[in-house]
Amino acid sequence: MNILVTGGAGFIGSHFLLRHVQQQPADSVVVLDALTYAADKTFLDPIKDAITFVRGDIGDFALVTKLVEEHAIDTIVNFAAESHVDNSIVDSAPFLRTNILGVQNLIEVIKAHPTIRFLHISTDEVYGDIEDSDPPRTVGDALWPSSPYAASKAAAEMLVMAAIRTYGIHAAVTRCTNNYGPHQAAEKFIPTVIRHALLGQPVPIYAEGKNKRDWLYVTDHCDALEMILKTQRPLSLDTISRSEITRDDTRGKNFFNIAAGNEWQNIDVAKKILEILGKPESLLTFVADRKGHDWRYCIDSVAIRTLGWKPQVAFDEGLARTIDWYRSRV
Ligand SMILES: NC(=O)c1ccc[n+]([C@@H]2O[C@H](COP(=O)([O-])OP(=O)(O)OC[C@H]3O[C@@H](n4cnc5c(N)ncnc54)[C@H](O)[C@@H]3O)[C@@H](O)[C@H]2O)c1
Repeated sequence: MNILVTGGAGFIGSHFLLRHVQQQPADSVVVLDALTYAADKTFLDPIKDAITFVRGDIGDFALVTKLVEEHAIDTIVNFAAESHVDNSIVDSAPFLRTNILGVQNLIEVIKAHPTIRFLHISTDEVYGDIEDSDPPRTVGDALWPSSPYAASKAAAEMLVMAAIRTYGIHAAVTRCTNNYGPHQAAEKFIPTVIRHALLGQPVPIYAEGKNKRDWLYVTDHCDALEMILKTQRPLSLDTISRSEITRDDTRGKNFFNIAAGNEWQNIDVAKKILEILGKPESLLTFVADRKGHDWRYCIDSVAIRTLGWKPQVAFDEGLARTIDWYRSRV
């Protein structure tokens, strides 16, 4: 593959790159990242000689076109996003710019280079939240995003769906649950708990901490993405005519939920981290709830498991690795 990875200096993208370069050393790898506050280019130091790194915006049509043509790109994997829900509640503009217009720009480049395959990383937050008694959401379910972040991700998915149907672009969309692991920006829940606990500071917990999330270790997520890249039947203008692109192609066939089935209440995750660090539960400090706070997400992952994927990292092991990494940086 000649692969363009966007957002590769962020949390998930950097893990994807570190693994990809090790596992597929013959591939040519270009990384495009705007280096926002969430990025850290040093994550890519171990592979810096094996990749071409370009600082830039996925919304820059001329730049993305130049990279695609100069490097004969055949695959784009898009991790680039504004990714923090709380920030989107304060100011949604950067979310709309990158998560919607940026994705549409990638689509425009792919329209002009229709043999490129596009793997777009989305989120389970597009489904909105569900009750404790609700069954897991499946890829055919309605999208009811709650936050500006989730709405921007849902909008991007719709643009990808429309581009598959209308232009026949080769695309797959993944919706994963909450990732955890090293490299995650300090603002996110698990890094916040670890950092505050290590410093002996109050650990902020929204409301009563009863909201549930399904945690996915970041390298398990990356393995699922690699599996899709390896096995997904591409929707190809070369092999099927546009008239053969069916509703199935846009309504599910190329959409993958990715979940480890590792659901925890936030309060229990925080307590677990305090216990591992030998810190008292008295550090837990309940704060006013996030506006529109989603109660629970739960998704099936039938399609990806049918491809043979299953998570490898148990929660305790993943948390221990994550804590070790942050411990070395606080
Ligand atoms: N972290 C999670 O738990 C999680 C869960 C579900 C889905 N996702 C999705 O996975 C993807 C990656 O998430 P993450 O946690 O690694 O995010 P992150 O915030 O850690 O990293 C995002 C990266 O994108 C880059 N970026 C932002 N705007 C850009 C732009 N306009 N052009 C080029 N680069 C830009 C940033 O510099 C950063 O390196 C996102 O699409 C996110 O919505 C993340």
